[in-house]
Amino acid sequence: MQHTYLLIGNSDGIGAAVTRALLAQGDRVVGISRSPSPLGPNGPRHIVQDIAAPEYPQILKNLLAEEGPFDACIYCAAIGSRLTLPDLSKEARVVEVNFTSMVRTLAALAPGWLEKGQGHFIGLSSLADDFYNADSPSYTASKAGFSNYLVAMAFKLRSHGIYVTNIRFGFVDTKLPKASWKPLMMTADQASAHVIQCLKSKPVQLSVPKLAGLAIHSIRWIQSMRIWWF
Ligand SMILES: NC(=O)c1ccc[n+]([C@@H]2O[C@H](COP(=O)([O-])OP(=O)(O)OC[C@H]3O[C@@H](n4cnc5c(N)ncnc54)[C@H](OP(=O)(O)O)[C@@H]3O)[C@@H](O)[C@H]2O)c1
Repeated sequence: MQHTYLLIGNSDGIGAAVTRALLAQGDRVVGISRSPSPLGPNGPRHIVQDIAAPEYPQILKNLLAEEGPFDACIYCAAIGSRLTLPDLSKEARVVEVNFTSMVRTLAALAPGWLEKGQGHFIGLSSLADDFYNADSPSYTASKAGFSNYLVAMAFKLRSHGIYVTNIRFGFVDTKLPKASWKPLMMTADQASAHVIQCLKSKPVQLSVPKLAGLAIHSIRWIQSMRIWWF
């Protein structure tokens, strides 16, 4: 049976890999990003839109009126920004794209899913949600809020037939990660395979690679000691 999926942020990276995988298994995809779809005019339906722009919620509402409730939504959009003092001007936009627009997306989708009694929202978070990163505070804080929000919403919505899945990836080989050392890095296709599996198994949370998650959690523990030292 063909499913229809809404992908937010699928012009590149993991979102583009998930789009290719879904189309290859015969599903339908509607995508949103600022750039056109790399699959061109003969590819799936694609809306060119900045999800942090004020008109985004209305555009989503119009799309839902046309398409009806999607079987699932996969939120892949994110930006990262290295903080270089004294310029903090890009910090708020990172939180807006990575976190606030995700909350707005789920708010637009939830009423239709609640009425139908089924739906699935998958959000791509990061193992960085468990890390104080002084070089990218807005990215790590946006991901901490993202993970916390989605797990809480998973608990809230499950009894209404709606699944929410928070996926926490380590390094994935796309243009997004700016670190000079990227241990245990996955390809975008490997990350996409985890997303496709989550569409079937619908876990509340998936963290991959587990070893990287453990390492980051240990670093956070050491960082917490620094709080007392300061
Ligand atoms: N790569 C990693 O190492 C890694 C690790 C952990 C978690 N993740 C998470 O995985 C997800 C996907 O990351 P990725 O590595 O695939 O990143 P990516 O290659 O940079 O792709 C990001 C996607 O988001 C879209 N996007 C960004 N800002 C947007 C905006 N304002 N409006 C609409 N679309 C927007 C981009 O399209 P346009 O530029 O065309 O708008 C692009 O399609 C993100 O949530 C990221 O935090 C990635």
